[in-house]
Amino acid sequence: MKRIAVLTSGGDSPGMNAAVRAVVRKAIYNNIEVFGVYQGYQGLLDDNIHKLELGSVGDTIQRGGTFLYSARCPQFKDESVRQKGIENLHKHGIEGLVVVGGDGSYRGAQRISEETTDIKTIGIPGTIDNDINGTDFTIGFDTALNTIIDCVDKIRDTASSHARTFVVEVMGRDCGDLALWAGLSVGAETILVPEEHTDIKDVAEKIESGIKRGKKHSIVMVAEGCMSGHECAEQLTKYINVDARVSVLGHIQRGGSPSGVDRVLASRLGGYAVELLMQGQTGFGVGIQNNQLTATPFDEIFNNESHKFNTRIYDLAKELSI
Ligand code: F6P
Repeated sequence: MKRIAVLTSGGDSPGMNAAVRAVVRKAIYNNIEVFGVYQGYQGLLDDNIHKLELGSVGDTIQRGGTFLYSARCPQFKDESVRQKGIENLHKHGIEGLVVVGGDGSYRGAQRISEETTDIKTIGIPGTIDNDINGTDFTIGFDTALNTIIDCVDKIRDTASSHARTFVVEVMGRDCGDLALWAGLSVGAETILVPEEHTDIKDVAEKIESGIKRGKKHSIVMVAEGCMSGHECAEQLTKYINVDARVSVLGHIQRGGSPSGVDRVLASRLGGYAVELLMQGQTGFGVGIQNNQLTATPFDEIFNNESHKFNTRIYDLAKELSI
């Protein structure tokens, strides 16, 4: 393996830069040339591919976003379109591709590894959603979690002053992990996630009994994959006389400097991706499971459900918020 490329794709996440930095530095340390593909798969089609040096990734480990830029590129699902991208990789003599992104991004990498034997591909899980099989944590999840905690701590101040109920909607696509971990961390009264059914009537009754007990405020944490914050607030008013305020945290959750946990995770996974390419491996997503680096075939990542919703944490959060 003499020449590899790296790209970031899909929704960005804090720590993507740290992952790219690790790929670049680990490769150069091992005398491998590295190219950056700018703007994800779109950049592959547009031949927006440029050599990266050690200095290209200097002063990036602490930066949020991705200096390689990201894009969603639905046309890459089309085989004839993909061929153009593969041609561009061949043109630069690239033998290995590291894709940092979510499982949609992994699908592009899987197709490339299936359609050409001379380009090996490895995926690194970069998304705040923590929704990828084959890893306990994705890069960006911890930072987004801390951003939510910071926001909700502030919301709590004003909720207390006005004795109000707040519904906080967080991201996560179809995965409830961000809502669960954040809800537990901020002591939310209720956590609504797509993986578990909760009757809104029960949520309303809990808020009401809390108010009767003298609670100063209530926080309802809602995962976007379950329902919107506004829908939740509206449904609550069917059962109780509550003037709930809604905060949709939105893209603020995707920004900011990566946490230490995300920087370390990104560095470990970036380095490991290059090690796998050096061994000639292809078609794997790297991850961390029980603090061990792991490589899982893309097929297994798409078809298994090893990244299960943690019902023990969910039950504990319920027990602690009585
Ligand atoms: O996958 C990351 C994510 O932030 C999801 O949590 C969210 O549903 C989605 O991306 C938002 O996508 P966009 O930035 O394209 O609006």
